[in-house]
Amino acid sequence: MSPSLAPESALARRLLENMNAAVLLFDQELRLSYLNPAAEVLLAASSRQVRGVALKEMLGSNPELIDSFQRALKNNHSFTERDIPVSLPGGRTITVDCTVTPINEPKGKPELLVEIMRVDHHRRIVREESLLAQHNASRAVVRGLAHEIKNPLGGLRGAAQLLERELSDESLKEYTGIIIGEADRLQTLVNRMLGPNTLPQQRLTNIHQIVERVRTLTAAEAPPGVQIICDYDPSIPDFMADPDQLIQAVLNIVRNALQAVGQQGKIQLRTRSIRQATIGHHRYKLAVRLDIIDNGPGIPPEMMENIFFPMVTGRPDGTGLGLPIAQDLVNQHHGLIECRSEPGKTVFTLLLPIETNHEQS
Ligand SMILES: Nc1ncnc2c1ncn2[C@@H]1O[C@H](COP(=O)(O)OP(=O)(O)OP(=O)(O)O)[C@@H](O)[C@H]1O
Ligand SMILES: [Mg+2]
Repeated sequence: MSPSLAPESALARRLLENMNAAVLLFDQELRLSYLNPAAEVLLAASSRQVRGVALKEMLGSNPELIDSFQRALKNNHSFTERDIPVSLPGGRTITVDCTVTPINEPKGKPELLVEIMRVDHHRRIVREESLLAQHNASRAVVRGLAHEIKNPLGGLRGAAQLLERELSDESLKEYTGIIIGEADRLQTLVNRMLGPNTLPQQRLTNIHQIVERVRTLTAAEAPPGVQIICDYDPSIPDFMADPDQLIQAVLNIVRNALQAVGQQGKIQLRTRSIRQATIGHHRYKLAVRLDIIDNGPGIPPEMMENIFFPMVTGRPDGTGLGLPIAQDLVNQHHGLIECRSEPGKTVFTLLLPIETNHEQS
């Protein structure tokens, strides 16, 4: 086995150990002779397990990458490649930027220094940030619009009531009845658009309290052919939240899943805890993840980008408010809802921080 890098100064070691980039050193036979802790995390293997392992064994399913490494060593030239998908042992595929530098010390044997930065992680943060920004903008428009409608609507309804009292002809009251009825319907819609009008009532809450409540509420609505399956991680600790608001958010998503599967189907409610979660541009030590998975027809790709915007609906009787309201409520808890969908599998993921003392990432 080749000797380890053994940084001579404590400073060099400290730098390598605290870097975000994965640093790997290969000997002239392209066997791994050193990796820093970031590389251990990336490869999901300890230094002891992978030191001395040949590059081919580690990256066997990336022949082009292995070729480039060999050429770099042979021709003594460095290169950087961006956005390359790398298949890792265990079946994981990640996207990375990779810089390869041959090292030729006058007295030593040639070596290859490899620096790897994960870019999919960064992309996810950017995507989540833009999702939040878009959502905030559309929420402001909808709220503004709802406010503008609310007052004149109250006036219209009041005037129709006064008119109704003045009318002696019973047949004309049918018309004022329609005005009042439609004004009430619009009022309900406007109230939903405005969202909750009370501040969150935070208290120590458990995610399973919330999910179980939604399960009981929806079990009664679900047709007999629809199975609701729970897969809970009981170790998730309690966190400060407004349970009523979160029940509303989860309910909106589970109701959509019920509507999507129709008479026959399966809805899975799965909870997990995540360490070091990134939500938007904040990092949290601990977060809870709730997946709501259904085996319905999926969300059409052309609709996918817009489902969290208000008034976007694929149902004839839908108002398109369920998801934006759910996103709003979860955002108020510093969380986020994400979605991915294909025919037969739609997953809505709620991420909620458990430890609120977040640090800027
Ligand atoms: N699990 C799902 N499977 C397939 N399509 C879905 C799913 N969840 C949401 N959708 C699509 O996203 C649209 C928007 O959902 P949203 O809950 O915001 O509004 P809605 O259900 O149409 O109306 P409402 O305001 O009554 O909830 C739905 O109309 C549906 O087309
Ligand atoms: Mg809905």
